[in-house]
Amino acid sequence: MKLTRKMGIVLAASVLLLFTAACGSGGSGSGSGNNTSGGSAEAPANSAAEAKSESAEAPADKKVTLGFAQVGAESGWRTANTTSIQDSAKEAGFDLKFSDAQQKQENQIKAIRTYIQQKVDVIAFSPVVESGWDTVLKEAKDAGIPVILTDRAVDSKDTSLYETFIGSDFVEEGRRAGQWLVDKYKDAAGDVNIVELQGTTGSAPANDRKAGFAEVIKSNPNLKVIASQTGDFTRAKGKEVMQAFLKANKKIDVLYAHNDDMALGAIQAIEAAGLKPGEDIVIISIDGVKDGFTAASEGKINFIVECNPLLGPQLMQAVRDVLDGKEIPKRIVTVEGVFTSEEAKKELPNRKY
Ligand code: AHR
Repeated sequence: MKLTRKMGIVLAASVLLLFTAACGSGGSGSGSGNNTSGGSAEAPANSAAEAKSESAEAPADKKVTLGFAQVGAESGWRTANTTSIQDSAKEAGFDLKFSDAQQKQENQIKAIRTYIQQKVDVIAFSPVVESGWDTVLKEAKDAGIPVILTDRAVDSKDTSLYETFIGSDFVEEGRRAGQWLVDKYKDAAGDVNIVELQGTTGSAPANDRKAGFAEVIKSNPNLKVIASQTGDFTRAKGKEVMQAFLKANKKIDVLYAHNDDMALGAIQAIEAAGLKPGEDIVIISIDGVKDGFTAASEGKINFIVECNPLLGPQLMQAVRDVLDGKEIPKRIVTVEGVFTSEEAKKELPNRKY
């Protein structure tokens, strides 16, 4: 059949239309927020941050899915932290997938891998321990899923494996505990025997609170740590280890507990041994949960260094910023205070957790 000029123009226009439509559908498909692997297959992303900017192209009304791998439920602090994350996610309108690792790293790694398979938008977690995360973090990065650390740090050299770390400065907390002791015993003539209840072995707060405390108390050679053992951040373990400390040591002047729960367990052991916590044995702890404040207001804990568990609002903001492709600081430090027994008594009615 012979083509007329008019037929030629119609045919050319149709081909052009078809071509434009094909290009359009290909573009929006590769930019889909859920199809992270499709996106990185076309143009390998250098980092999760680059890959995530594709998900920012997802429809504005698409619900953000956040996978959160929690440490466990070992302390009052942790319970308050979990509530803060769950409430804030709800408020932000995010779909939260939450898992409790029961203080085991392998459970956390499993949870993170599940979140990767489910193609969540962002993964956040509080690492049980500092080491051993590189492989799974690399898997998240390869899948184009940004990771945010909350509360506890990892010791990975490659900081591109996560977007930011939101939480306390644990070394500083240890220093504050040590400084109070240095000031209290500045005129002490003889040895001051200290026992230390450490947090979970290998965890950032246990490592850092020990280091910060040791750094400061070395300025006074009278201050001597005569025993130091883990109480795994729990009340039961704190009590058990304090019982053993009391059995093995005739003279204990000070207990430094890495959290309130261990201090509270230790108080039970001290009372059971016929001693007065806060008087016969001076007690310093970290966290500042309601039960800790109550013990402090009764004079059983002498000094509390605050560690704020209400990280939910900061985390949700960071999730939004990351998905919007905004630059966020690599480290977001939580602001915290310190409390003597008298100050804790005044503050107790306002304590939220
Ligand atoms: O990582 C924060 C610490 O973990 C808290 O001080 C402690 O109570 C918790 O279990």
